[in-house]
Amino acid sequence: MKTKILESKSENIRIAADIIRQGGLVAFPTETVYGLGADALNPEAVGKVYAAKGRPSDNPMIVHISRTEDFEKLTPSLSPVVKKLMDAFWPGPLTMVVKRTPEVPDVTTGGLDTVGVRMPDNKTALALIEYSGTPIAAPSANISGRPSPTKAEHVVHDLNGRIDAILTGSDCRVGIESTVLDVTTDAPVILRPGIITKNELEAVLDMPVLIDPALLQKRPVEKGEGLGGNDPDFHPKAPGMKYRHYAPKAEMVIIEGSHEAVERKAKKLRAENENAGKKVGVILFGEQAFAEAAHDFFADLRKMDEQGVDLIIAGALSDTDGIGFAVMNRMMKSAGYNVIKV
Ligand code: TXA
Ligand code: MG
Repeated sequence: MKTKILESKSENIRIAADIIRQGGLVAFPTETVYGLGADALNPEAVGKVYAAKGRPSDNPMIVHISRTEDFEKLTPSLSPVVKKLMDAFWPGPLTMVVKRTPEVPDVTTGGLDTVGVRMPDNKTALALIEYSGTPIAAPSANISGRPSPTKAEHVVHDLNGRIDAILTGSDCRVGIESTVLDVTTDAPVILRPGIITKNELEAVLDMPVLIDPALLQKRPVEKGEGLGGNDPDFHPKAPGMKYRHYAPKAEMVIIEGSHEAVERKAKKLRAENENAGKKVGVILFGEQAFAEAAHDFFADLRKMDEQGVDLIIAGALSDTDGIGFAVMNRMMKSAGYNVIKV
């Protein structure tokens, strides 16, 4: 398949919108990561997304909208909690999981009776949805299992020749995917952490927000298996959280401890491995520089793969519920929970 690579200007966004309307696939920028879009209400189109990404079909997609009116088509009613969150955070990197209407096809939600919805904070994305005249289902625009794409070149690398078009734009401002919040329960539950944090959500709602306990488990990953290994008790509520993810080609290890101790250990490990003839990459973010870490992390992994790095050594971020926690969630999966404590 020949993929059209289109700069994000109005006439090109219209071409891309025609493709969406006709049931095709278009990758587009959002503020978090690039998305791979299809008409969310067209089961055949959504089916193609799974195939293009090599994605397991029980993993539901996030449905992107450009106007709050569109939300009413997707869910039977908007609760006061949903309304407060919409006002405070949309457009922006928050996905809300709500009950779905029968209009939303099974294939879009992986057969669940809920649907994840968000309004992205990116002009190209919003124009694409508006011109398409339909909500757009979009997972991250990477081959399943690879680091999420935060630059147009990442998308071209993974999906050129596999989809109809790629709208190119600037690098993603946030760099990690949206916070996914289940608002179908009495107390909202974070299913995937992002840059909108538990504290921010609690401040707006004036009520406690929970974190899916599965996110707090640290489990080793056997190659080719889900993140729970053989543990029958590992049941994250967002199906996507159980898969091996974000994996660079290189082996990766995380070092956890005080900043000084981590730096010392990283230096030592690097020297040992370089002496053994390996190419080593190091990812050490500054203390508390969590937003910067979110912005750079996936791009750093891809850069190191391109450079042919054999071993990536990364410093852990110490944070239990904020942006650092969201980055650590991705880092742990990238490294297959391979951690050295110092
Ligand atoms: O920032 C983002 O959210 C990006 C951009 C493109 O918008 N999209 C994204 O999509 O990260 P994806 O498909 O890579 O991740 C969606 C996550 C998965 O972990 C999935 O299991 C979860 O959201 N999810 C979606 N719908 C859900 C639902 N109804 N119930 C529970 N989890 C859901
Ligand atoms: Mg993804």
